[in-house]
Amino acid sequence: MHGAAIVGQNRQLARDVFLLSLQAPELARAAAPGQFLMLRVTSGPEPLLARPFSIHAVEGDDVGVLYRVVGRGTRLLAQATAGQRLELWGPLGRGFDLALERPLLVAGGMGIAPLRFAAQRLTARGARPRLLCGLASATGLGGLVEAVDECLTAQSCAVSWVTEDGSLGERGLVTALLDRALEGVDGVLCCGPMAMLRAVAEACGRQGVACQVSLEAPMACGVGACLGCVIPAADGGYLRACQEGPVLPAAAVDWPRLA
Ligand SMILES: Cc1cc2nc3c(=O)[nH]c(=O)nc-3n(C[C@H](O)[C@H](O)[C@H](O)COP(=O)(O)OP(=O)(O)OC[C@H]3O[C@@H](n4cnc5c(N)ncnc54)[C@H](O)[C@@H]3O)c2cc1C
Ligand code: FES
Repeated sequence: MHGAAIVGQNRQLARDVFLLSLQAPELARAAAPGQFLMLRVTSGPEPLLARPFSIHAVEGDDVGVLYRVVGRGTRLLAQATAGQRLELWGPLGRGFDLALERPLLVAGGMGIAPLRFAAQRLTARGARPRLLCGLASATGLGGLVEAVDECLTAQSCAVSWVTEDGSLGERGLVTALLDRALEGVDGVLCCGPMAMLRAVAEACGRQGVACQVSLEAPMACGVGACLGCVIPAADGGYLRACQEGPVLPAAAVDWPRLA
């Protein structure tokens, strides 16, 4: 679908993290966890390329986007107000395979964005997901932590926090806790920085647990035309993150060539 969405809310959760709610009934009906949308702020003096964002939540006709302000596009987005029209297309790409009973969701930082929607659909299917969520520090991110705890607990998804500075939950890296966390798990869904994805993929490989990774490659078109998002594949070829991904089986990725 290519069209417009109306901003319902654009709530600041933390210093540079916002939760955008869009009235987009067609998108809400069609969206699956792990898929993304391309969003363009149409007001303002300069034309901007659309930016890719994961679908964070679907509630009725509303689609949620959780985003961090990092540059020009997200700075403009942070200024969007209720009632404003934004240009969007989606849902795009391939999402998670949710045929799991005891999945572990592993998030690094903003990697939580697609995993909340996955948790929502997994519990609706009768699965019992758990979330392991890592942050460099929880300092200044209280609103984000609260929002994640609130919505995932409401979906009966147990949340464990890990922070590098020990400001919340266990101190350390998500990957250090993985071997223990993988016990009894029948699949892992993972989103976060590339180094974390690779470490999670390796840990899952060692324990024989199927792992799906959501890859955030830089994207210009989002629809398979520009090849700006290609990922080296394990078979020696390439995969477009926007078409064959963004969610891929970890075993399909050539991790050494990606680094
Ligand atoms: C499939 C997909 C889903 C995404 N989902 C989310 C989401 O749910 N929430 C969220 O906050 N962000 C998400 N992102 C990242 C988001 O698209 C970028 O942060 C955004 O495009 C930045 O736009 P900008 O104009 O603000 O920054 P720019 O001015 O374009 O860039 C600012 C800085 O961010 C870096 N950057 C831009 N895009 C990426 C990227 N894809 N990966 C790594 N670094 C990047 C640039 O290299 C630059 O250093 C997703 C990306 C992809 C590909
Ligand atoms: S973003 Fe253009 S081909 Fe993937």
